[in-house]
Amino acid sequence: MLQSGDSVISIRDFDSEEIQQVLSVAARMEREDNRDLMRGKILATMFLEASTRTKLSFMSAMLRLGGEVLDFGDTEHSSFKKGESLSDAIRIVSGYCDVIAMRHPWEGAARLAAQIAGLPVINAGDGANQHPTQTFLDLYTIQKVRGRIDGLSVGFVGDLKYGRTVHSLATALSRFDCRQIFVSPPTLRIPAGLLRELEEAGVRYEVSEDLVSAISKLDILYCTRIQRERFADSLEYERTKGAYRLDLALLERGGARDELRIMHPLPRVGELSTDLDDTPYAVYFQQARNGVPVRQALLSLVLGKE
Ligand code: NCD
Repeated sequence: MLQSGDSVISIRDFDSEEIQQVLSVAARMEREDNRDLMRGKILATMFLEASTRTKLSFMSAMLRLGGEVLDFGDTEHSSFKKGESLSDAIRIVSGYCDVIAMRHPWEGAARLAAQIAGLPVINAGDGANQHPTQTFLDLYTIQKVRGRIDGLSVGFVGDLKYGRTVHSLATALSRFDCRQIFVSPPTLRIPAGLLRELEEAGVRYEVSEDLVSAISKLDILYCTRIQRERFADSLEYERTKGAYRLDLALLERGGARDELRIMHPLPRVGELSTDLDDTPYAVYFQQARNGVPVRQALLSLVLGKE
């Protein structure tokens, strides 16, 4: 179970019971008034890659629990500009706070930070690798809108190669009885290593390029942005960026079930039409809001306040 002093680095470190522990603390955070729970505690945010939702919802979570927040700033205006190493920066920041939420373009950066810091580090995204806190809020959203996680068919569409939210969520869903369908262009397929992991866990999955024919099978469709910043070749990005565009007409053509719910970690850049926003299918804005109680749960668990 997640406890005081622990770091949150990869969803691989969590079994289904540990996942349920976080989801039920999050539900309590949403229900109860905990405005003094974190009094005297300081969260440092170190976001060395672009972020809106993750950073702000971490800050909001801490502030709404009565804690305080220190922001490291961006790479342009910090000591990295002078050539400071990541490990030195982590050592310094850990002297000023009680917990660090960190996003970094290098895979494995959060694990390294946790070894150095001597206090809990929460991975807010490490390159194309993992985004565990997003996964907890994705699971929380699924449980809220569908009443359960077990027994669902979950489709993923978009950039399944570089999308860290996809990698973390697919691993987490393998802890439950879910069918998974991966729809992407051939160049952005889900990594073979992840599929092997799913096979070993006995997960039923399909890999496809055809979104329309997948639609009618789905309870949840998790749509993602093509991750422009991860492409070595900008021409390759230009070739794939318009591969899928989800809109109401496509859902109707595919025979979507009434109960289908569309999720997206956001930001969207053209793959998800605004014509879905006011339909019962759309849960992505609710999903973003769920970042606050879920991150409140994670912060309070690792700081021993639960
Ligand atoms: C995601 C990320 O950073 O991986 N955003 C988020 O945290 N909500 C998805 C993305 O950037 O496409």
